[in-house]
Amino acid sequence: MKIDELVKELTLEEKIGMIHGDGLFRTKGVPRLGIPPLKMSDGPMGVRNEFENDQWIPIGTTDDYVSYLPSNSAIAATWNREAARESGRVLGAEARGRGKDMILGPGVNIKRSPLCGRDFEYMSEDPYLAGELAVPLIQGVQEWDVSACVKHFALNNQETERLWVEVEVDEEPLREIYLPAFEKAVKEGGSLSLMGAYNRFRGEHCCESKGLLNQVLREEWGFDGVIVSDWGGVHRTKEAAESALDIEMSVTDNFDEYFMAEPLKEAVEKGELPEALIDEKVRNILRLMERLHMLDGAERKAGCYNTPEHRAAALDTARESVVLLKNEEHLLPLAKKAGQRILVIGDNANRIHSCGGGSAEIKALYEITPLMGIKKLLGGNAQVDWVPGYVAYDCDQEEKPVNWQADSLENGGGSVGQAEELQADVLALEEKLRREAVELAAQYEQVIFVGGLNHQQDSEGHDRPDMKLPYGQDQVIREVLAANPNTVVVMAAGSPVEMGEWLSQAKAVVWHWYAGMEGGTALAEVLFGQVNPSGRLPESFPFTHLDCPAHCVGEYPGGKTVAYREGRFVGYRYYETKKVPVAFPFGHGLSYTEFAWEGLRAEVKKGAEQPKVAVSLKITNTGDRAGKEVVQIYVGPTEEESVYPVKELRAFEKVALEPGESSEVVLTLEKEAFAHYDAREKAFCAKPGAYRIYAGKSAAEIVECVEVEI
Ligand code: BGC
Repeated sequence: MKIDELVKELTLEEKIGMIHGDGLFRTKGVPRLGIPPLKMSDGPMGVRNEFENDQWIPIGTTDDYVSYLPSNSAIAATWNREAARESGRVLGAEARGRGKDMILGPGVNIKRSPLCGRDFEYMSEDPYLAGELAVPLIQGVQEWDVSACVKHFALNNQETERLWVEVEVDEEPLREIYLPAFEKAVKEGGSLSLMGAYNRFRGEHCCESKGLLNQVLREEWGFDGVIVSDWGGVHRTKEAAESALDIEMSVTDNFDEYFMAEPLKEAVEKGELPEALIDEKVRNILRLMERLHMLDGAERKAGCYNTPEHRAAALDTARESVVLLKNEEHLLPLAKKAGQRILVIGDNANRIHSCGGGSAEIKALYEITPLMGIKKLLGGNAQVDWVPGYVAYDCDQEEKPVNWQADSLENGGGSVGQAEELQADVLALEEKLRREAVELAAQYEQVIFVGGLNHQQDSEGHDRPDMKLPYGQDQVIREVLAANPNTVVVMAAGSPVEMGEWLSQAKAVVWHWYAGMEGGTALAEVLFGQVNPSGRLPESFPFTHLDCPAHCVGEYPGGKTVAYREGRFVGYRYYETKKVPVAFPFGHGLSYTEFAWEGLRAEVKKGAEQPKVAVSLKITNTGDRAGKEVVQIYVGPTEEESVYPVKELRAFEKVALEPGESSEVVLTLEKEAFAHYDAREKAFCAKPGAYRIYAGKSAAEIVECVEVEI
């Protein structure tokens, strides 16, 4: 039956059932017309475990273990569009394999501050990078007759007071920084659904915002997919009904009382709201179902989960996500020697992360920890010993409450984590573990420290108070490095940490994210040189959060309102323009081989209607190992004084090269690469004139620069 005919057949009650949650993760179907319920699941790193329909109680059977994929921050660190596509394919296949219609991801919110508890779920501080990777990821998901649901639209950049905080941002940064990844996700990626955000913007809750949903998303971008609320993000019936929101979801089990349930039905029956509003939403939902082959007995892909191919894809992405931050004296890669003795120190070497983080939690089929990865790689002829070095005391306290998600919306929905007063017994244990690690470190030829953060810090529902390493790790690392200067430091975390207390002493530092079920395998392969690292930072690593523009120019986390006074100067756009040094710049990452860059040329295409610039350069692998280089092209003004950032990422490509091999990299800059938003014109405008084009290994390490006139 055609959609319009179906809508005519439906009763008001049936339609109401389709536009709000009738379970924590599904809507109501209409069996008499062959309309199934719409089934959704979190989240970005894999398909979440099954819950009871109306309670946050895990079903607890053995059939909902899944492949655990690298987090979005890890995917972004690959700077590899194909890796993102493959991750999307796995996510889509597994979602469908588990019988879902919609997977709630990816998250493309901009990492405005390193303290945001959900940064590990997001991709980048840069809208271009986030958008470029979200597009193939979404397309990969949707190959499987499953809808991606790009989230959280928009300006959801902190957890503190996430339910009520009113974001104040000017039109230019809104358009240039906070919206483009969403726009690309829906226009180029073709995301079939989108989730609204909890926070408020210009006086409206984002999930019921006419400004964002009706005007920007539907009218300007022509989005005809389904808009889902964040769970509990709707607050009023009339506003939600009149907005372009299609489905209201929440965390509580009073489904009939949801704003778009009985209250809306009553309002329509009393003639206070037109039924046409509901018809429009139902039409969008039916269109989605048609696209997913859910109607009329259409043939639909079955999907599959926990296949060897999915695990291989998770491993490939994890390998490309590891970022080699520092490598003095070629300390890495480590040699594999018969009879070697290695000491691994650190809680994160031995910790499983997949089960934490908030709604992104996963019931992983397995998770290879760094310790297991190292042991697996070296085999039985090496002696690998582990000591914790510090105590992640808050992880092991008690099981997290079953109902945390229902309670998660109390008191504004989120807070800033506080540094705790430690009990004497914890302090004593800390000291004991530190001493043990330091004493042993001196006795081993090779020491690997694996620390960082875990999902107590990188988590939905709260932001970090600062970027400091928890559990007294700084002191452990300092003392271990003093005892054994050849210690390799691995930081496993979803967001940057302060490293100032020991960075100058450490010869080798490796960044490892929440890298999925094969993360430990990938890390070990990088440490021992089986894989040449090729990850690049998708965000700047400042020395401290106080250097971050959100904190020193704007506000974070604000109060009832939060003012994004830094405007478009987010991340490297600020550090580079204001010449603020950082620990590691956006785009940074080393390799075990060397690459020579030469011959940067920029050719303005004549006769094209729009300015188009072909940028080319030659990259040669001059070392003796195969490796991958990421060519980053930034564009900026030529004037010293400008209202725009000195440079902005406008193109990139990852190239794989054998030793001695060269490649001519050609990238095209379209008009958008030269455009900024003009609030008076209400449009992106590229002003004619001179521009600088930079080819760099990071935002800070520019290899060549040319000027063009457009
Ligand atoms: C999160 C969403 C998530 C939803 C469903 C909310 O708390 O903000 O990202 O998809 O819950 O679990």
